[in-house]
Amino acid sequence: MAVRAPFDDPRWSALRRVPATTARGDISELLRGAERGDRVVITRSGKPVVAIVPLTDLAVLLHEDSSAEPEMMGKISRRALSTDENTIDFDELVGGGGGAAAEPQDRINALLLLARDHRAVEDLFEQFEKARGPSAKERLARRICTHLKIHSMIEEEIFYPALRGKIPDDDLDEAYVEHDGAKVLINEIEAGSPDDAFYDAKVKVLKEQIEHHVEEEEKVRGNIFQQARASDVDLEALGEQMIARKAELMAQAQSGALAPAALVTLQHERA
Ligand SMILES: [Fe+2]
Ligand SMILES: [Fe+2]
Repeated sequence: MAVRAPFDDPRWSALRRVPATTARGDISELLRGAERGDRVVITRSGKPVVAIVPLTDLAVLLHEDSSAEPEMMGKISRRALSTDENTIDFDELVGGGGGAAAEPQDRINALLLLARDHRAVEDLFEQFEKARGPSAKERLARRICTHLKIHSMIEEEIFYPALRGKIPDDDLDEAYVEHDGAKVLINEIEAGSPDDAFYDAKVKVLKEQIEHHVEEEEKVRGNIFQQARASDVDLEALGEQMIARKAELMAQAQSGALAPAALVTLQHERA
C-alpha cells in the first residue's frame, strides 16, 4: 500500500521528531506516550523514516484501506506498527508495555498483544483513580470500557477458541464467565455517568475483577498464557488475526458503532 507522507500538511511539521538513535534509548517513554495518544516521527540522518502512533491511528489506516484482502491486513498492521528494523524492532515495540517478554524475530504474537492490552488497561484504571472531576472520570471510564470490550471480543472470538482442546476446558470456561461478570459492570458504567450512585464503586469493582482475571491469564502458576506457550497453537498467526480484528473493532468504536458488551454465559442476565 503506497503511503505518501503529508509534507504539505502544517500538522506534519508540528509533530515531535526523535532521532532513531535517541528513540532506541527512550522506547519505553515513546510507547507510553503513544498509548496516551502522542504521535512521534522517528528520523534517521534528519529524514523522517517511520512513526510511532497510537493503535487508533492504525485502526483508521486499516479502515480506510478496506480494499485490502483480509490476509493483507496482518501484514499492513505489522508494517504500520513497526518502526525501522535497523533502529527499533517490532518486538521491542509490542513488548515495550512492560510485563510481556519479547519474542525473537519480527513476529506478531498473540500473547504480546494481549499482555500489552492488559498493561494499557491497568494504566487507565490507575488514571481513573487519580482523576478529579466528573468529566475526566467519565472519559477514562468510557476508555476503560471500550478497551475491555474490544479485548474480550478478540479473546472470545479468536484466542480462547484456538486454545479449546489444547488446555483444560475448565480454565477457558472460567475465563468466559469472568468476562461476562465484567461485562455486566462495563455495560452499567457505559450506560451511566459519574453523577450516578455507585459509579466509582462499579469502576473499582471492575478493576478488581480484571486484576483477578489478568492474574489467571498471565501471572499465576499454570496460567493460560503459559499453557498457550506450551501448546502447538501458532501464536504468531493468531496474533495476526487478532490485530486485524482489533483494528476493525477500534474503527467501530471510533465511529460510535461498537455495541454494548454481549454476554455469552450468563443466561438469566442476558434474558
Ligand atoms: Fe486478557
Ligand atoms: Fe480474558
